[in-house]
Amino acid sequence: MNQLLQCKNMSKHFSKVPILQNISFHVRSGEHFTIVGPSGCGKTTLLRCLAGLEDISGGEIWLKQKSIVTLKPEERSVVLMFQDSLLFPHLTVIENVTYGLKRRKMKKKERVSEAEQMLMKVKLLHLRNAYPHELSGGQKQRVSLARALVLKPDLLLLDEPFSSLDASLRESLRGEVKELLREENITALFITHDRDEAIEMGDRLAVMNKGTFIQIGEPFDVVTNPSSIESARIIGEGLALEAGFIPLNKVIAIPAEQKPSEKDYVFVQGKVKAVTVKNNLPCYRVTFDQGSILAVSDRNLVVGQNVLLSAKREDMKKYKNQEEQWRRVQ
Ligand SMILES: Nc1ncnc2c1ncn2[C@@H]1O[C@H](COP(=O)(O)OP(=O)(O)O)[C@@H](O)[C@H]1O
Ligand SMILES: [Mg+2]
Repeated sequence: MNQLLQCKNMSKHFSKVPILQNISFHVRSGEHFTIVGPSGCGKTTLLRCLAGLEDISGGEIWLKQKSIVTLKPEERSVVLMFQDSLLFPHLTVIENVTYGLKRRKMKKKERVSEAEQMLMKVKLLHLRNAYPHELSGGQKQRVSLARALVLKPDLLLLDEPFSSLDASLRESLRGEVKELLREENITALFITHDRDEAIEMGDRLAVMNKGTFIQIGEPFDVVTNPSSIESARIIGEGLALEAGFIPLNKVIAIPAEQKPSEKDYVFVQGKVKAVTVKNNLPCYRVTFDQGSILAVSDRNLVVGQNVLLSAKREDMKKYKNQEEQWRRVQ
């Protein structure tokens, strides 16, 4: 697949404070690429730089083999969809969707027809004459998606588009949006602070921390083989310890007094904070000094009980970065 977007060593400072540093990655044509990282790590700033709403302080941005750094936002074939739908309150749904086409001087009949087709795809044609205040949160986000897609951008940037919606709506909309982007063959860069969303939406993903990418890869590989403890804490599914990473399916919670031999097992002291059900199995929310995980147990545990999170030593993986450092020392 062609590389549609390439960022090389991109950086951004706000009055000398570095916000983005050394960001290098590419997005292939037709690919859905997600960036996941905690609030404040620089995700929105990165998208605003790509859309041309912020100047970058260093590095390069290439779209379709052309440098776009000096282009104005409207000269870039990039559309940014925001966290809040930002629809024009005084315009109807159809007027909102045709707005960008009107600015491109498309004839009225044509733009209404394009917008109606897109509204049909997001299942909102019946609300074409409604005003934004008459729509639910999910409907508003669908309208803003239609408004973005109707412009047929080379690259769609989505800034946490589902974060204002409730959990079940968020999950169903994710699947729908993914399918629509695939059908329309849209290349999309999607940012989120929600690890499940990042894994589900991305063909590949980048883990971002403190203004830089700390790991890029396919979701399964990143989740099961985090490159560092920081990456493991953001995206890993398991126990992120200084010494290495233990996948969740290798961890079991046992009552604190039933400690097996230290030689073969790794232990972390924890406390049961809640009992829940996952995949039809009882699970325990166990907190320990560096975080919390949902663990299974072969005993019935109770809230408040002191437990050990235990795993076979052989199931602990070294972080890729540690292995590299180790190789360099050899
Ligand atoms: N216009 C600005 N001027 C100064 N600092 C900013 C500006 N925009 C964002 N920042 C700072 O940049 C950092 C990253 O913000 P942001 O990109 O919004 O993070 P995220 O989207 O990951 O939550 C934050 O510390 C924020 O305060
Ligand atoms: Mg943000």
